[in-house]
Amino acid sequence: MKFFIDTANLAQIKEANELGILDGVTTNPSLMAKEGIKGIDAVMQHYKTICEMVDGDISAEVISTDFDGIIEEGKKLVAIHRNIVVKVPMIKDGIKAIKWFTQNGIRTNCTLVFSAGQAILAAKAGASYVSPFIGRIDDSGWDGMELIHQLRQIFTIQGYKTEILAASIRNPNHIIKCAEAGADVCTCPLDSILGLLKHPLTDIGLAKFLEDAKKTA
Ligand code: E4P
Repeated sequence: MKFFIDTANLAQIKEANELGILDGVTTNPSLMAKEGIKGIDAVMQHYKTICEMVDGDISAEVISTDFDGIIEEGKKLVAIHRNIVVKVPMIKDGIKAIKWFTQNGIRTNCTLVFSAGQAILAAKAGASYVSPFIGRIDDSGWDGMELIHQLRQIFTIQGYKTEILAASIRNPNHIIKCAEAGADVCTCPLDSILGLLKHPLTDIGLAKFLEDAKKTA
């Protein structure tokens, strides 16, 4: 399973990248706004900076909701860097645009996916990635992980090449469950990635080893 970081915060991207386990970055307009990025030039520059920091796929989201607008924006985004993947919302014009991008060699990430039916449409249109939002499904009282299991089964049976990119991750356990369910990618906040490091027995064990090492010094 590939690890992406789900943020537009450069310090967090740098920290995750320095761990040596990062395969890419996903962003969205809310994450860009959170960093105070304002104006199209600043947004484009921010994507460029991220692309220069991480050697992997970088999802950059369109904000148009009509076919022509999505295509125009997507073309500008992919011109920034070869690693840009155009993030397109799961709407009717989004599906048409994903098909167009696919036919024109432009990679896409279909975002805001909450059901198997939506994911099937994205895969049929040729999306490179489909992003089920498991945390938001959990938040609304359903089981996000069930969707990952369902998509893994459908995509394998059908032979879809689209990668399942589990998104809206809330904690380290979500990451483990995604790996278990066969997600191709998990995009995570830094805290959830770092949470994987932690176990109290590791801390206790290390303290004991370091204490005993003094006896052998
Ligand atoms: C995915 O690409 C989205 O950016 C993200 O995972 C959404 O997560 P949230 O539900 O925490 O906003």
